[in-house]
Amino acid sequence: MSDLKIVRTIPELRATVTAWRRDGQTVALVPTMGALHEAHMTLMQEARSRADRVVATIFVNPTQFAENEDLSTYPRREAKDIERLQQDEIDLLFAPDVSEIYPDGFATSVTVKGVSEGLCGDHRPGHFAGVATVVTKLLLQTLPDVALFGEKDFQQLQVIKSLTRDLDIPVKIIGVPTVREPDGLAMSSRNTHLSADERILAPVLHQILTEAAIKISAGDDIQQVCSAAVIGLREAGFAPVEYFEVRDAATLAVPEQNSGPKQSLRILTAAWLGATRLIDNIAIA
Ligand code: PAF
Repeated sequence: MSDLKIVRTIPELRATVTAWRRDGQTVALVPTMGALHEAHMTLMQEARSRADRVVATIFVNPTQFAENEDLSTYPRREAKDIERLQQDEIDLLFAPDVSEIYPDGFATSVTVKGVSEGLCGDHRPGHFAGVATVVTKLLLQTLPDVALFGEKDFQQLQVIKSLTRDLDIPVKIIGVPTVREPDGLAMSSRNTHLSADERILAPVLHQILTEAAIKISAGDDIQQVCSAAVIGLREAGFAPVEYFEVRDAATLAVPEQNSGPKQSLRILTAAWLGATRLIDNIAIA
């Protein structure tokens, strides 16, 4: 168990990090929205291996939820999260109120063109501007050496890489591979919303992604594989299937026809099981 320090204001966060820096220590940041699970703890462990000090943040960011989305039902269990952070010997938790991040009169938004467009960007209008704005703020408030994000939110990861590059924020962004349940389902705080029957069906998303990646790397036609995958997901009970698409792994652009073996490709998908929206992605080897 560590002496986890919990702060709720930006000056307290800055004072702690500044003192560490004065001592020549390096700092890693792991932004989260709480409801911590094994995938978050993998990010924390990776952070611990890369810096002297680890700062975790818990902030359910209202600006990345559209009005019809699940802000009010998003799982919140701070006391449990604090226990996990103590067990993992995290140094500092920054858990601000909404008014600390968005005080009265807040009027700025960070938007990232290109990588924010299409995929989740089409289905969750405003979502990536909300993510980009809060992550920019957390990076500038903490000024870490490295910040870690899961590859499960692959489009989000590319948005964050783009904004740090474009805004010259001196931090290294590290993408950490998706952590999965033994049956393949990508870990996510929203998995707790699945009913028992939906939980049994949910790993089909990863199975269909895996089969599609094998077929495409064997040379099958991308469009045909993706169309068949959407049909397979619908037959399994996913509805709607928002997208199942192959993209360039770095730019998220639609790949050129016959782009050749040099281009690194990724399949990304989002589909609903009942009232729960699941996303996942896989590299094409
Ligand atoms: O991935 C998340 O949990 C959130 O989108 C993030 C990066 C913490 C920003 O609110």
